[in-house]
Order: sequence, then C-alpha cells, then structure tokens
Amino acid sequence: MTLVDLKIKGKILQAGKIIEGCIAVEAGKILAVGKTLSSLKSEKTYHLKENEIVLPGMVDIHIHARDLEQDYKEDWRSISRAALAGGVTFIADMPNTVPPTRALEALKKKLDVAKKSLVDYGIYSGVPENPKDLYKMYPTIIGIKIYAEDLIREDLQETLISAKKLNLPVIIHPEHPYLIRDVEILPRSLARPPEAELLAVRLMLSRALILNLPIHLTHLTLPESVMEVVKFRGKGLRVTMDVTPHHILLDNNIESILGKKAAVNPPLRPARTRTLLYNLFLQDVVDMFVSDHAPHTPDEKDAGAPGFPGVELALHLLLYLILEKEVSWRVIRKYSYFPATLLGIPKGELIPGMDADLTVVDIKYEWIIRNEDLYSKSKFTPFNGWRIKGKVVKTFVRGFLAFDEGSFLIKEGFGKIYGASHG
Ligand code: DOR
Ligand code: ZN
Repeated sequence: MTLVDLKIKGKILQAGKIIEGCIAVEAGKILAVGKTLSSLKSEKTYHLKENEIVLPGMVDIHIHARDLEQDYKEDWRSISRAALAGGVTFIADMPNTVPPTRALEALKKKLDVAKKSLVDYGIYSGVPENPKDLYKMYPTIIGIKIYAEDLIREDLQETLISAKKLNLPVIIHPEHPYLIRDVEILPRSLARPPEAELLAVRLMLSRALILNLPIHLTHLTLPESVMEVVKFRGKGLRVTMDVTPHHILLDNNIESILGKKAAVNPPLRPARTRTLLYNLFLQDVVDMFVSDHAPHTPDEKDAGAPGFPGVELALHLLLYLILEKEVSWRVIRKYSYFPATLLGIPKGELIPGMDADLTVVDIKYEWIIRNEDLYSKSKFTPFNGWRIKGKVVKTFVRGFLAFDEGSFLIKEGFGKIYGASHG
C-alpha cells in the first residue's frame, strides 16, 4: 500500500462539474483523483462536510501588490493574506509599482519584497526601459504588461518581437492614450471614453495579427471589444481576454453614491453596457476573470485614486453568481484553469500532476461584505454591503493548510515564484 501525505474526501469540482470522490496529495502535488483511492493510505485525511466543496486554488493573473515605496497601500504580506482568505493561491503582480519593474535592478528590488508572500506568485515586467533588458529579466518574469502610454512608444515593436521569441505572455491594458483626457477636468466616463478602449483593442489586435503574436487583453469593459476579439480569433489570432468583477457587476450609477471613490481605470460603464458584458462573460467567449486588485488608502480614494481591492472578493462574487443566480460551476475555470494555462503554470485544476492548491468553500454560509473586514490594507470596496452566499473556509497551498476559518497557518515566505514557462 502506498503512503501519501494527505487525502481529501467529499465533493470535488473537476472540469466545471461536481463529483463525489477523493484527492490524494503527495509532495505538494495532486497524485490522484478517484472514487475512493483505497489503495492509497494517507497520514492525514480531511472529510469534507455536507455543505463543503473543494475547488482548485484560484489563479489571479492581475493584481497590484504595491509594497516598495508604496507599502502603506499594500504589501506582499497583506495581499497574500487577502488572497488566501479569497481562496486565491497564485497572484501575478503588475509592474506599475514605485519603482516600476522595467529593468533588472528594479526587478531585484521587487523580488526582495515579494519573497514575503504566503501564496505563489509571478512578476510581470513593464515595457523595458531598454528592449535588451527583457533578456536580462527572463526567465524570472512571467510575462509583460503593456500600459496605455506604452501603446505609442517607438520601441514597443522591438519588445513585442522579443516577447514572441521568448514565448512570454503579453498582457495589454487597452485604452489608447490619444483618446484619454484629463480626469480633473472631465468626468471619468468622458475622460476615458469607450472609444479609447475600442481603438486600443483594434490597433493591438491588428498589430498582433501581423506579428502572429499571441496576446491577452485585460479588463475589457465593452461588448464591442469582446466581439472584436472574437472576430480576430476567426482570422486565426491566438488572443485571450478577461473581465473584472466590478465591470460585470457594477455600473456608473454608483458614481452618484460613491462619488470619486468609484474611480477605476478603465471606468465603470452605463447599465446597458454592463449587462451586455455580463451576458458575454457567462458565455464561453470571455475566457478569464481577474480581480485587478488595486489598493489605495481611504484618503487617496476620496481624492479619486483609481482602483479597488478585490483579491479576497472575486471568488466570493463568483460563488454568489453560482449559488444565487444559477450560473454554472463551469465559470470557476475562468478564474483558475484558463489563466493558469495562459501563464503556463501547473495550477488551476484538480487533476494529477498539478500543484495541490485547494480551496474549500462552504456553500451554505451567508455573510455580508464589509469594508472593515477586508484583509487588504485598502479598506474600501464598492461591494460593501453585498450579501454573499458561499465562503472560503480552508485554502491549501501545495498541500499545506495555509488558511483555516480565519487563521493563517503558514509563514511569510512560503510562496514560491513562478517565472516564464518554457513550454
Ligand atoms: O484602476 C486602476 N488602478 N487601473 C489601472 O490600470 C491601474 C490601477 C492601479 O495601479 O491603481
Ligand atoms: Zn491593474
């Protein structure tokens, strides 16, 4: 009889369906998933309760951990605790930090603070200061993030060609700088109009098609953008996309209640746009979901700093959709398996060979989102007051029970970095 580290018995979400069975974990990896796995003896067995389901750990490929010179907004300890409480076991950090991650020296500084993480992580580079720097940062970085202002840089082409050679995921913030105006003068919805998104989406899709470069468009807010992506898929381009919880669940009417605190880039859109985007999200065309966790202090939010913390809420909002709005469990793959596949990491699905990242949720637990209960340092969410059904009760990272009903059981530094995949 083979001895394994851990067995978990109960309801398991696998490939979007719930099955009754058992997961065996050995050396941080899923060894087997089966009905009883009676030939495997384990040192420890968790029997899930009637109300509990085990999901894969979520993979959030768009977060801002801040730290460095902005550790008052968030740091790797606080964000990784928030991640665990949200059932997220992997986070990929954006380069718009202070200093920005655009060269080797800055990358080293980030690595030094990121090593506090409790969850596994990846680090994106921005468009490098000098295109050659990309090779120096490879393969420590997991991908490249292209911001609005980068879309008009002359050296962008060289970076895109290098990214293709290195097989690095390219994540694009699609808002064209030529159509972005001053938010101090105009309301955000006019300062960052839909046309800015659509122009950037079209230009980058065309450019990627010419280069035969796979790209990923993040936080799309318009149904028209989604349809453009579908059109280019039809031309043979490998292109993926994601949406955020706030763009599919909130519209710009909340600006009349929250004022400047509702600021986010790209901005919240009118109710009709939001509903169409939500409907497209529920279909298979939109392949991914990201929190775009972007923490700021309350004073900064009052002054209109754009972004919301969301890493501990994103899965809970999906559970709300599944348990209250009859959305299929298949939607979970948009926040686990599909983003893991984009970054080439062995996570996001409960099948043998994957990291044993497991999130146990209680599907009967009802609770209310409260600003003050957030683990993030940023104690403001536009979802404050939302009644949620379903709660993360346990999170395992590579077989270790890291979070158990509000307690954090692993130490800072448990998180492991994943760089560029070579596949
Ligand atoms: O709302 C946003 N906040 N959008 C971005 O693109 C950046 C982010 C941030 O870093 O705060
Ligand atoms: Zn972002």
